[in-house]
Amino acid sequence: MEKKNILTGIRPTGRLHLGHYFGATRNWVKLQDEYNTYIEIADVQALTDNFDNPEKVRKSVRDLAIDLLAVGIDPEKSTLFIQSMIPEIAELTIFYSNLVTIARLERNPTVKTEIQQKKELFGDKGEGITYGFLGYPVSQAADITAFDGELVPVGEDQLPLIEQCREIVRKFNNIYGETLKEPDAYLSENKRIKGLDGNDKMGKSLGNAIYLCDDEETIRKKIMGAVTDPNKIKKDDPANPDVCMVYYYHKLIKNDNIETVCKECKKGARGCVQCKKELIEKMQEFLRPVSERIKYYEDNPELVDKILIEGTSRAKKTAEETMKKVRKAINIDYFEEK
Ligand code: TRP
Ligand code: SF4
Repeated sequence: MEKKNILTGIRPTGRLHLGHYFGATRNWVKLQDEYNTYIEIADVQALTDNFDNPEKVRKSVRDLAIDLLAVGIDPEKSTLFIQSMIPEIAELTIFYSNLVTIARLERNPTVKTEIQQKKELFGDKGEGITYGFLGYPVSQAADITAFDGELVPVGEDQLPLIEQCREIVRKFNNIYGETLKEPDAYLSENKRIKGLDGNDKMGKSLGNAIYLCDDEETIRKKIMGAVTDPNKIKKDDPANPDVCMVYYYHKLIKNDNIETVCKECKKGARGCVQCKKELIEKMQEFLRPVSERIKYYEDNPELVDKILIEGTSRAKKTAEETMKKVRKAINIDYFEEK
């Protein structure tokens, strides 16, 4: 049986942290064995938000590639590519943009939330919503369908974008004839990873993240500052591990001593400093192989470039095939034999 195509994307806007790892990339590493996997470094999409900061996007493309390779994305199994180097995606976006109303885009819950966040962040100082930003779900539909993506591994917040893509595909097929595949979302088991501060989400802008590239000293400092049970004052006070971020991370990285941590914490037989020190060691151990691979790729930038160039060239061939079908369907395949 032919393998199904999976496509997923990620915006290059900074380094990967544990939230990305447990919520997304770890699953991609598993999926690449079973599926024909395309992983898009979505620089065009990153620019919809960062058009005035192209340097950040440029630097993040390589950093992101390094982080992805370091967690185990295997260029022999997965096609890792750069969005802006595939003009077919931009081309498809133009044709799809006729199939979506502005009202529908404004109603997209993900877009709505993001517009709200922008308003809160910039208030009246904001420049307003750009055409490119409002249209990014259309471009994301092009990302997916350019590679015949049947399954799209994403977080829950992305579901409205997949729905929007499905609508575009249906409309396209209705008007121009059965051409494109309707994709399904593939939700990961771990939806959201909490931050060191107890916030529901680990995020770059929240300053509560452990990065895969953090050195051992940084990991130590961050864990020492993690939120514990606020009712525990003295070393031998009994506490509630369920409200403690240190306990949460012990669990996340599967400390085999977890039962003891829980019992001792509840009994007041464990001090928080000791408990944090134990987590620091385990976390450093957990991240060590990843940091070693990060260092390897950082020392071999020409290898990273080669992987990106080859992946992009493979991806481009697939997108060209799709574009041929699309041109034919829309009847703009001038000078091709009928
Ligand atoms: N919008 C996604 C995010 O912010 C990134 C992305 C870009 C994507 N293109 C995609 C995800 C295609 C899935 C499929 O996380
Ligand atoms: Fe958290 Fe450990 Fe302190 Fe309990 S002992 S509150 S689990 S840090």
